Amino acid sequence: MREITVNYNGAPCYDILLDDSYSELAARIDQLGFSGRRIAIITDSNVGPLYAEAVASSLARISSEVLICTIPAGESNKTLAEIERLYAALIEAHFDRHDLLIALGGGVVGDMTGFCAATYLRGVSFVQLPTTLLAQADSSIGGKTGVDFSGYKNMVGAFYMPRLVYMNFSVLKTLPAREFSSGFAEIMKHGLIKDQSFYMWLVDHLYEINDRDPAVLAEMLQKSCEIKRAVVEADPKERGERALLNFGHTIGHAVEKAKNFELLHGECVALGCVAAAYISARRKMIGDDEYYEIRDMFVPFGLPISVEDVNPMDIVRLVHSDKKADRNSIRFILLEKLGHAVIRTDVTDEEISAAVEEILWREDGE
Ligand SMILES: NC(=O)c1ccc[n+]([C@@H]2O[C@H](COP(=O)([O-])OP(=O)(O)OC[C@H]3O[C@@H](n4cnc5c(N)ncnc54)[C@H](O)[C@@H]3O)[C@@H](O)[C@H]2O)c1
Ligand SMILES: [Zn+2]
Repeated sequence: MREITVNYNGAPCYDILLDDSYSELAARIDQLGFSGRRIAIITDSNVGPLYAEAVASSLARISSEVLICTIPAGESNKTLAEIERLYAALIEAHFDRHDLLIALGGGVVGDMTGFCAATYLRGVSFVQLPTTLLAQADSSIGGKTGVDFSGYKNMVGAFYMPRLVYMNFSVLKTLPAREFSSGFAEIMKHGLIKDQSFYMWLVDHLYEINDRDPAVLAEMLQKSCEIKRAVVEADPKERGERALLNFGHTIGHAVEKAKNFELLHGECVALGCVAAAYISARRKMIGDDEYYEIRDMFVPFGLPISVEDVNPMDIVRLVHSDKKADRNSIRFILLEKLGHAVIRTDVTDEEISAAVEEILWREDGE
């Protein structure tokens, strides 16, 4: 078992545990003081049938009552309407402020459970059991919670810290290949923005990662979680440096919207990373050879580097309508070198549109 402690405002706040089973889960929840309390496992309709019963039975020995609440799977259910259904189930089961919510699922379940925990009775405790690569490497850490609203992603939410993040990487075995690759995009991003040697390590372990070799996954997740931990500890509420995690996301989110959410989040992040690296190369912040290397390394990990049927001007418009766009200036993340990202507010519409042209799929395969 590997363990990382995340600080919040300078004091230890919660632990991240990396394990190959849930065998220590009940003991850790007990240590947090939830013995004899009610526990609600919030999961989705894909993950629930696979893992909820096993998690529930392991907790039954310490809890007075274990409830399983299932959300229909998919981003389209990341809504206030589903949160209301959760509140209703908790009220019906007489959940009080000392009881515990557990998120068992990917980023959708984690964000929703966290938001439910932040708001139910003005705040109850919650634990993250992330089951996708994206949730393990990224979304379960850092306390961003929320739901989508009126077509806008994560428009309503709260910063609210979990009490524990317990990742069992053996559950990744059942994750569909496309979801695995999508999560991997965020891991590549961590290397690109903060740690060149980690990036090189990922490239060197291509085959083991694609084979989901447990020892290599454990090593990879530990390193990736450490990078995310360091960034969120330095800037928990995204006043500055945390924005570096948005590398690839400015154009990525716009592509996600322009393609009507047909592509997975990580696939759009890969496209956005390529576009941002291209802008960095045009500005001579990185060399052309580095740009091509960054671009081409997404391919063997099953990620796209070009996209069909998007209009560069639509992307420019969507970039400006993103909630993170600060009036007229966009906080854009570029690479000063491989492993070192910086925030820039002077990226022009022309640069964005040229970067989108660059990632447009062309018949000649360029
Ligand atoms: N809070 C944050 O800091 C943060 C960061 C990044 C992304 N996010 C959010 O995360 C969400 C995306 O998360 P995601 O990619 O995990 O998507 P997801 O939660 O929709 O999971 C992807 C799919 O995999 C299925 N699944 C999950 N675990 C499985 C397993 N072990 N075996 C088989 N199937 C499994 C799910 O049912 C779903 O169909 C987005 O809503 C995004 O906004 C949040
Ligand atoms: Zn992301």
